[in-house]
Amino acid sequence: MVGMWDDGRLCHGGDYNPEQWPPATWREDVDLMRRARINLVTVGVFAWSRLEPAPGRYDFDWLDEALDLLHDSGIRVALATPTASPPPWFSLAHPDALPVTADGVRLHHGSRDTYCAAAPSYRAAARSIAATLAARYAHHPAVALWHVHNEYGTTCHCPHTETAFRRWLIDRHGDLDTLNTAWATSFWSQHYADWAYVSTPRATQYHANPGHLLDFRRFWSDTLLAAYTEQRDLLKAANPTIPVTTNYVLGDWVPVDHARWATEVDLVAIDHYPSAVDGGAEEQTALAADLARGWARHGHHRRAHPTTPDRPATPATWLLMESAASQIHTTGRSHTKEPGRTARHSLSHIARGSLGAMFFQWRAPAGGAERFHSALVPHTGPDSRTFRESVRLGDTLARLAEVTAGEVTADIALAWDAASSWALRHPGMPSTLLDGHAELAAAHRALWRAGYACDVIVPGDPLDPYRLLVLPALYLADDTTVDWVRTHVDAGGHLLVSYLSGVADPHARIHLGGYPGAYRDLLGLRVEEFHPLAADEQVLLSGGGTGHIWSETVHPHGADTVCTYVGGVLDGRPAVTRHRAGTGTGTTWYLSTRPDDNTYRRLITEAARTAGAHPVHPDAPPGVEAIRRAHPQASWLFLLNHTDRPQRVPTDGVDLLTGTPTDGQTTLPAGGTAVIRERLR
Ligand code: GAL
Repeated sequence: MVGMWDDGRLCHGGDYNPEQWPPATWREDVDLMRRARINLVTVGVFAWSRLEPAPGRYDFDWLDEALDLLHDSGIRVALATPTASPPPWFSLAHPDALPVTADGVRLHHGSRDTYCAAAPSYRAAARSIAATLAARYAHHPAVALWHVHNEYGTTCHCPHTETAFRRWLIDRHGDLDTLNTAWATSFWSQHYADWAYVSTPRATQYHANPGHLLDFRRFWSDTLLAAYTEQRDLLKAANPTIPVTTNYVLGDWVPVDHARWATEVDLVAIDHYPSAVDGGAEEQTALAADLARGWARHGHHRRAHPTTPDRPATPATWLLMESAASQIHTTGRSHTKEPGRTARHSLSHIARGSLGAMFFQWRAPAGGAERFHSALVPHTGPDSRTFRESVRLGDTLARLAEVTAGEVTADIALAWDAASSWALRHPGMPSTLLDGHAELAAAHRALWRAGYACDVIVPGDPLDPYRLLVLPALYLADDTTVDWVRTHVDAGGHLLVSYLSGVADPHARIHLGGYPGAYRDLLGLRVEEFHPLAADEQVLLSGGGTGHIWSETVHPHGADTVCTYVGGVLDGRPAVTRHRAGTGTGTTWYLSTRPDDNTYRRLITEAARTAGAHPVHPDAPPGVEAIRRAHPQASWLFLLNHTDRPQRVPTDGVDLLTGTPTDGQTTLPAGGTAVIRERLR
């Protein structure tokens, strides 16, 4: 990583919108920023209409003044290109660049993200404002990072998109026979005899074709990526030393393959807003951070070794670009975070490799659609709990700078890819409850609760460090992925596979001969039939516990039964199996149902123990999360107390937040945190 990241500080800051306030407020802003040790702010994300109020007429005075003020105050800037929200004049002049929904409705100006990323006029206007900003600010001393656009993720079905989709399909499939075979178009009279007959998957009468939907998502991810890379190239051309990124938005509605994008950004940056308000928020935070680290590493080693990825020597860095300073949004209402919770979320990200903790947003606006979104400086002003907590967090981060040298290491990897998740969402699947992200989250939660560190990796990534590889409903499997899994098992690695993994090929066509086609022999079994469960249904498992969402008729062919279904049509049949496979010594486990959380935790702990994996801190009490960042000469243990009682944890080292030796143990206040530089033995 070039430039600013070498200055050794953890980043603290967030989206800053001087254009929403008079200059007098800016001066108060920088004073308050200094109090909170803010050292990086994102400026200009949605400022296009203030930068270019009319076509080709620019107003940079306010931005010049704001950047100078920030620089004079020692605050670095992530300068955004404002292309996520075209100004009113653009939409009026280019109605063809307004997006069209799958139902054929053209959307209109009035919110944000209202553009079609395949429309030539939009792309030209976006390049133009990016190039203009680059020409003016690429050498401004405040600018440490370029922040392209904001949360690429919107989609479109307009004629521009359709033309681009056909071009992409020709590149991917070469000829129509190949496309027809990939999409199995003989089903329901969908055979295409001319490229011109292929449209985007618009709203249709009944289920759409699964291959068509999947390719459209892949195409759209590539289209958005091209919109990003053309801006990146302009910015790089103006000054190659400034890193360029864009902030990933997470969620399975997002048609972006973030792993694929990771090779194109200098820094993986994520926005994270947990949807849960109970302890689920902490679990979601841990998963988001593990995903981000996985993408960063994937990009890192793919760039270094495009064909045979190796593990790079230096830590792959990433940044939490946005999070909520207080409220967490949940369905229908927002929930104000309890005291200390924002810091715990921030440290959970930093413990897992983030270069800092950034927030949306610096100051809560008086108007606009997000006027009630939380901010470091809330409507109340700086005399508020939220601002005091951000001052404390700034102080904490200043004391933790040394941890950036450390890397998280894990014995366990969860393999996940976006396309598998997209494919599981197809309405023609045997259950509408299937959700790839939820499957990943369930496996991750089981490990999190059992205190194991894990990496979330992309199929094809290096496997050598891992004792246990988990495939949580990794639905799609091509030959390369199957070989990758087999190599791990042949080398003595352990494997845990949950239902529906390896059932389909990359076009979402089923591997025939019994499920899960790609992994039957590795697991020593054959699945004959599915028995999906209703949302309120559960099946009993022998030895205790329940299964949810899914169940199957499993025929072992060498595998041993770990537990069976109890009652119902599957009574006495295997629910969970284990098998000694391949030439190695590894055990392969199969879960034909989604166990309840406690049972999942018990099973995955057994698999981890069998594999020789160790929890991060075996003596951490329940409710205390322990994460370690380390390198050969140093080790930092992060402890996050998610309970409402003080907790004691055995530790040996120096508490970085107080500067004192730990004397054998650390006492964490209720909801509190500690970071220990551990004594190396
Ligand atoms: C993010 C977005 C921000 C703001 C925030 C609200 O997804 O990038 O601009 O809208 O959500 O939570």
